[in-house]
Amino acid sequence: MRHWVATIARVLIAASAVSGATASPATTARLEGVWIFEAAPANPGVTMMELDRTAAGLSGRVTTQWYGPVEMIDPVIDGTRLSFATRNINDRANPTRRWTATLGPKGITLDGRIWESHVVQAGRRGTVAERRARTFRFAALPPLTRLVPDGLSATPPMGWSSWNKFADRIDDKTVRAMADAMVSTGLRDAGYRYVNIDDGWQGARDAAGVLQPNAKFPDMKGLADYVHARGLKFGIYSSPGPRTCAGYEGSYGHVAQDAKTFASWGVDYVKYDLCSGEWFYADADTVRRSYAEMGAALRATGRSIVYSLCEYGRFDVAAWGRSVGGHLWRTTGDITDTYKTMAEIGFDRNPKFGHAGPGGWNDPDMLELGNGGMSSDEYVTHMTLWAMSAAPLMMGHDLRQTDAATRRLLENPGVIAIDQDPAGVQGRAVRSEGDTVIWSKHLADGTVALALFNRATTPTSIDLRPIDAGLNIITAIRDIWTSKDIAASRTQFAVPGHGAVLLRVRGEASRLSKSGQ
Ligand code: GLA
Repeated sequence: MRHWVATIARVLIAASAVSGATASPATTARLEGVWIFEAAPANPGVTMMELDRTAAGLSGRVTTQWYGPVEMIDPVIDGTRLSFATRNINDRANPTRRWTATLGPKGITLDGRIWESHVVQAGRRGTVAERRARTFRFAALPPLTRLVPDGLSATPPMGWSSWNKFADRIDDKTVRAMADAMVSTGLRDAGYRYVNIDDGWQGARDAAGVLQPNAKFPDMKGLADYVHARGLKFGIYSSPGPRTCAGYEGSYGHVAQDAKTFASWGVDYVKYDLCSGEWFYADADTVRRSYAEMGAALRATGRSIVYSLCEYGRFDVAAWGRSVGGHLWRTTGDITDTYKTMAEIGFDRNPKFGHAGPGGWNDPDMLELGNGGMSSDEYVTHMTLWAMSAAPLMMGHDLRQTDAATRRLLENPGVIAIDQDPAGVQGRAVRSEGDTVIWSKHLADGTVALALFNRATTPTSIDLRPIDAGLNIITAIRDIWTSKDIAASRTQFAVPGHGAVLLRVRGEASRLSKSGQ
């Protein structure tokens, strides 16, 4: 009997070698089973491949540290090669990606792509126990709950965050130095209060699942105390996915536990960044519920924690950000230290989002002032746009190197007052002509902030019209950047290329309504 089976197998192998089309049962069987990848280097961090044959045919998955199990689509074996597709993320033009696993003398070589990563990894055969140990444990999302406002962030939060300057090259010593510089530069007294660690602080979880900081942050509670002792507040960062955008441990499956850990350290601000969570939460319902889960967990700690939603403006986040406990929500992808990106975000993208006001703010991302990539006129535009937008003002430079010019831009009390105005109105464009754009923002004391922007590279003159402010006559004008009152009769303003003039005007609107704001 055995002899016959062996003979049939040999014939099949020979036949398939001739046709080159179908794999022999022997080769097929050699690709089936569990394959273990010891080194799981970069994104997505492949740890295991499983291939099973059922009555319905072949099925399998590649388990990753970032996205959990990535199911094979249409697995096919051809000789010593398995090929299959996987769902891709975040790329409408390429919704699937091709993978292969090729059998060699020592195991398999897996080759495939997901999102921006190219995987080439060698795998060895695994045991049943290894399969069990590496099987991804899904975490169920709780049903959607609504949180009532908690009174935090009556005005847009102001502070500093590590990402724009330091990315994940951040440590305890640098954060302490930032807290010191926040005080010595006068930035704290100008209104900047939060000292936030973005991605890159996380280590591993302990045996009880409690997330530990990495070696660069030996004492998180001590660091929070240091920040608090300087009259400042302390912020931290996590993700609803298994991995953060820079590949560190996320809160997936540990949401309530992480919220408690943050509260126990004395955290006052949490930025929650979708990152690998977008694999699991890819539609409006699940994204919202995943943000609600952390929102409720932060509330349950009993500590007052500002909650910053970072899902890049997907699924109309402004409409539901508050109901999941959010105090600010990103409206865009990442800013860069260039006029082009800053202007696209500030002029074009963020204004599409409504719902801003006391307790909840549209967040066009952190500031780039002080990082050196824009001209001083461009930084004036950056700061003017953010203030007119009632945007959170999170500095993103090395505070120790705040030069006098940057300080003047960041500390101007008139600009900060417009951003922090208690009415909480998000300004908007009221007139655009070619490259000139005029924005208005109605303020709590009845005055109106008017920003005259020049998006061209050459200087221009922009005329001021009372109607831009919803007024029929202007009776007083203050130039905010020069901190000078100017004649109420003035109607022409010189604006440098890529620059801005910021005015606060008073007037009468007897026959006009303050429409639209
Ligand atoms: C994303 C966010 C950034 C920053 C990085 C950290 O790109 O949008 O603001 O937090 O992740 O990895």
